[in-house]
Amino acid sequence: MANPFTLGIASGEPLPDGVMLWTRLAVDPLNTDPKRPGGMAPRAVEVSWQLAEDERFTRVVRQGAIQALPVWAHSVHVRVTGLRPGTDYFYRFRTGGGQSAVGRTRTADDPVSSRPVRFAVASCQRYEHGFYTAYRHLADERPDVVFHVGDYIYESRQAATVVRPLGPLPGETSRLHEYRQRYARYKTDPDLQAAHAAAPWVTTWDDHEVLDNYRGKGDGSAAFLRRRGAAYQAFYENHPIRVRPDDGNLQMYRRRTYGTVADFMVLDVRQHRNRVTMLGAAQEQWLVSRLVTSPVRWRVLVQPLFFARRVVPEDGGELRLDSWDGHPQQRARILAVRAPGLVVFSGDVHNAWAGELKADFLDPASATVGVEFVGSSISSRPPPTDGPGVLARNPHLKFFDDRRGYLSCTASAEELRVAFRAVGFVHKAGAPVQTVAEFVTEGSGLTSENTSSK
Ligand SMILES: [Fe+2]
Repeated sequence: MANPFTLGIASGEPLPDGVMLWTRLAVDPLNTDPKRPGGMAPRAVEVSWQLAEDERFTRVVRQGAIQALPVWAHSVHVRVTGLRPGTDYFYRFRTGGGQSAVGRTRTADDPVSSRPVRFAVASCQRYEHGFYTAYRHLADERPDVVFHVGDYIYESRQAATVVRPLGPLPGETSRLHEYRQRYARYKTDPDLQAAHAAAPWVTTWDDHEVLDNYRGKGDGSAAFLRRRGAAYQAFYENHPIRVRPDDGNLQMYRRRTYGTVADFMVLDVRQHRNRVTMLGAAQEQWLVSRLVTSPVRWRVLVQPLFFARRVVPEDGGELRLDSWDGHPQQRARILAVRAPGLVVFSGDVHNAWAGELKADFLDPASATVGVEFVGSSISSRPPPTDGPGVLARNPHLKFFDDRRGYLSCTASAEELRVAFRAVGFVHKAGAPVQTVAEFVTEGSGLTSENTSSK
């Protein structure tokens, strides 16, 4: 068999005593035969795996074998348990004559630990728009955990000003084999593979993993539900997540806790949404009750969409309803909890922003009840945005930058520190990275350090 590890390896969903390990076999990643995703023959393949305390695998602590099945596009999801908290581990896979690269992963901190947590936040990586150089730099930082807040793939195909062609793929994905091919295309990228091999990931989705701007059950048609089910299955097959799709649904909202320092509440703003709710009743109840009872220093919402109110002058006073401005009552109920140490991380808009969350966004003198950091995009092109104009109209927003990049963060018992990391270009490889702004908060309001926005 030719090299089956063309899509790389990954780990994710860290707990204090375990992680998930992932790979998906594909000898021919862009193969367009619906019956042979990744060019794999339709039969089971045994894959063995090892997890060790050291990079040279002299101290292997867990190992096993698992069947990669055609029904799951030859993906494997290994649930490793019984590990030590807050500890680095290394893993690799083997099948036939092939051996994967070595990945580094890390368990979450012990529940009583007050050790600082180092994490990164990324989103929006349209393949045609550019190189994933930002991921190369993110990988070099080897954070404890990476959060991805959506638009991991794009279902559509960009025709104009393409930096990197998708290759022999359909114009728009709607069937299972098309979503599988799309993930395979994205996952062949070496910088993305490096970022997965550097740290465990926790990923949520936005709309483009299925269809632009969809909500919930879409138009309710059988065709849409089939399409959504196919997209959710392909999402599972291509991420190291703990749960399988079930009858066309996939449980996405969850929390990942790091000691007494941070509770990361990962939200699903698509699957349960309709005209009157962003999260659905069950998810809102779960979130609010956790915000009330969480004993940690930082209560962190990890989710795709711009959370603070944002009036964009050129929209003529209309709010953008695909964001949280479309669900202001639900946002108000979340903020009304007055959760201490509330932080929101977002993506979606392809520009970087930072701001304060207000008890009343229409009253700049009202209490600051949290902070928000909106990461830029890894590669997706930003819309033309009058950043200074938006900042002037929304005094609770403090920072704008229009370069591609990601967030590099440290949460400790004392403070939360967020660096906006940016690359100057993505139309070719090799851009250096720089910190264009750094913010520090102790829980109420933002202090900026070393900021050079543009
Ligand atoms: Fe996006």
